Formats: sequence, C-alpha cells, structure tokens
Amino acid sequence: DGIVYKFLVNGEWRKSTSGRTISNLTPYDETICYEVQACTREEIDEAYATAHAAQRVWAKTPIWKRAELLHKAATVLRQYAALIATPVLREVGKNRKSAYDEVVRTAELLDFAAEEGVRINGEVMSSDAWVGQKRNKLAIVERVPVGVVLCIPPFNYPINLCGSKIGPALIAGNAVVVKTPTQGAVSTLHLGAAFKIAGAPPGLVNVVTGKGSEIGDYLVQHPGANLISFTGGATGIDVSKKAGMVPLQMELGGKDACIVLPDADLELASTAIVKGGFSYSGQRCTAVKIVFATAEIADALLEKVLAKLAKLTIGHPEENADITAVINKKSADYIESLVMDAESKGATLTTPYKRVGNLIHPLIIDHVKENMKLHWEEPFGPVLPFVRVGDAAEAVALANKSSMGLQGCVFTQDINRAILVANELAAGTIQINGPPARGPDHFPFTGFKDSGIGAQGIKYSIESMSKVKSFVINLP
Ligand code: G3H
Repeated sequence: DGIVYKFLVNGEWRKSTSGRTISNLTPYDETICYEVQACTREEIDEAYATAHAAQRVWAKTPIWKRAELLHKAATVLRQYAALIATPVLREVGKNRKSAYDEVVRTAELLDFAAEEGVRINGEVMSSDAWVGQKRNKLAIVERVPVGVVLCIPPFNYPINLCGSKIGPALIAGNAVVVKTPTQGAVSTLHLGAAFKIAGAPPGLVNVVTGKGSEIGDYLVQHPGANLISFTGGATGIDVSKKAGMVPLQMELGGKDACIVLPDADLELASTAIVKGGFSYSGQRCTAVKIVFATAEIADALLEKVLAKLAKLTIGHPEENADITAVINKKSADYIESLVMDAESKGATLTTPYKRVGNLIHPLIIDHVKENMKLHWEEPFGPVLPFVRVGDAAEAVALANKSSMGLQGCVFTQDINRAILVANELAAGTIQINGPPARGPDHFPFTGFKDSGIGAQGIKYSIESMSKVKSFVINLP
C-alpha cells in the first residue's frame, strides 16, 4: 500500500528528478493504491538516447537470441502471473481471473512473436518480370528494424496491449520506449520488470511514467521515436496529427455492431451479446457496442439477453465478479450522461438504472434511436443500446454511419447471407456467429475509419514494425 514505484531507463529503476509523483486510484473505492514517478523531459530524452544505443547492438543480435529473450520474458510472466495480476486488479479493476489470464495471454503472445519472428524472411526478385527487361538485376529484399518504437498502451489491458507491442518490436530488432497508461502504470512497469529479469540489455526496454497531458506531446513529437504504436481512445486522433513523419500503428476503439437476422440461432446470439457486451464491464474496444435486432426476432432475442444478463454477478474484482466498477468517476459520469440522454429522448431502460460509486449495474437500453448519443458514442461501460430494425440492409446502413469501424458481427444460419452482410460492413473484422474479439492474437487486427491505422496481430505487427530494404545486384 502506498508504494511509490520507480520508472525504468537504461536497465535501472529510478526516481524522477522532478521530485513529483502521480497518485493512482482504485476504480472500486477510489483510494490511492500506488504512486508513480512524474518523469521529466530530460528523463524522456535519456530513455530515447539509451534506447537508440541499445537498438544499434540489438539490430545486429541474431534473431534466435532475440527470440530467446522473448521466451525468457514469457517464462518470467508465467512464474509471477499471480503476483502481476494484483496491480491489474487494483489499478484497473479487472477481476482476479481475467487479470491473471491477461498475464498468461501475454506470455503466450511473446512466445508466439518469438516463433513468428524467426520465420520472417525477405524475398528475391528478378528484373525480367518487367516488360522489356533482361534478367540482369536481382533484388534481395529484406526487412530491417525501424529503430525505436514508442509504445502507448491503454488502461484496459496494461500488460497485454503493451506486450503485443513490445514482443513484435523486439523480435524485429527494435528497442522500445513505453509510456504507461496513468491507471495501469504499475502493471505495465511489471511487464518492464519481466524483461529486465529475463536479461534484456540495458536500454532495450524503457518504461516511463507520467501524465499524458504533461509528457504525451513531448514523447510523440520526439525525434527519437521512429514509430508510434498507440492503443486508446480518441486522443489517438490528436497523436496522429502531432506525430509528423513517423509510421503509425493506431487502434482507437470501436462502435462494434451486432446484427441479428431473423433466422439466427437466438441462444447463440444472446450468449454472444452478453459476453461481447459485458465482459470487463464493456471496457473493451471490441465490446459489442450496439445491437441491431430485426423486427421478427427482436422481442425473443431481448428476452433471452435479459435472462442471461440477470445471471451476471456484480461486485468486487477480488470476488471475480463479472461486472466491476468502471475505471474512474469521469468515465462513470459519462456513461450515466449517455443513459440519461437516451431515456430523456424516449428510449426504454429494461431495468432501472443503478450506480453505486463507479459501479454501474449492467443495462440494456431498448428502442434507441439515431437522435440519441448512445447510438453513436462508445460508453466503454456496461450499458448496451438495442436498436430495432426492419431488415439487414437498414442495420448495415446504420452501422456504417458510425465514424468508427473496428469489428462487427452478424448472426444468421445462412452463410451466404452472412458473407453478403459482412461484405457491406465497413469494419476491419466481421465475426460470423460469434462476438467481436481481437484474439487469438495472431489474427490480424485492424480498424477502419477512426478506429485505427495499420494492422496488428503478431505477424502483421512485425511487418508494421520493420521496413523494407533492398540490395540490387546488377549483373553484366
Ligand atoms: O480493448 C481493446 C482490445 O484490443 C480488445 O481485446 O478483444 O481481446 O478484449 P479483446
């Protein structure tokens, strides 16, 4: 309790010369759980400098040795999974089982990144594929590291969505500077610790802490950043505007639609809606954020969803409750404002609205219409709008009006219809007869429109975090 954590630069744990710390509150009772350093600009300069020095050596380190480090870090994560789950639970209010699973998932991700990285090869191209050319030029095309990757993970997966950046970055030959989320900072520092314990060379993995409002712009606009990998909310749009000439890998959330057609298996669809909409209290970019139910089945679907929703447990993350407090008061107030706006404009709350502190009871809001904010905005909480539509075409048109396009899902027993609907939906991934989800983590993960830039997923991230370099051999 009250532990003050240091940040990690050049392989050393340090206190900031700012002399200031930032208090981290638990979501469920808003007491201070940890304090982290408020890093200065000079410390950020040092993190980048040390990362560049380490990267020059790391780029020449054999890939099998890079892979060895990732496997060792994965082993450390597994060994300390129960311990590392504690800050995840306390800082971001994830229930104990999910917090533990997040650590293990990250270990698996690092192992997979190591295995994938050793298999990434370039190609050889010959000039005579081009019309009129002779076979006198050979291009040897390979992938080289970008340099130093600035990793900015979000609060909701402070370990996993940082590991999904560090793993591919390192195996591709890069070093990293990580900016922790404010809530989630100590969890992310534990991931840094896992790499240190695993024997990462000093400077390869640096983890700085501080408020985004104080150091965010400085980190993002720093000449030391050769690529920015960001996961989070709309702040990412700001980051992309400020970043300048560096490649971006961005994932900024979604308004993932779940379209249920008249012939759908309603048992399957209702299970997916409750799991997809309410896991981690809806605080996932891939959560089901709006349901479009076709008129024929809307009542029957809603009945099933409500029956399943009533079975969710609500309470403390230590008790493994399904629904726990949302991240902070600001978020809870925002969610509440969306509920009030919808109710005042004629939507139906299927159960009475209930909030205790930051703990919002799960709620389906029926008859949501286009004039309500909940139709368009992402609550990032356990509140799900239910929209009744005439047919699939109407659902697709409404879903595509969203400024975001991360994932979507369609439920029908007719695979041809599923593909036709999926073809029309403007989102990076369409799940057929299943809820939206990023994993398994080797699958591609992309966001259309304001949901993102570039591709994630282990192989895709390795490609995003490396650049193509060619050697052309000119033959006589
Ligand atoms: O919150 C954003 C994450 O990428 C979602 O990951 O689908 O595994 O919950 P998930």
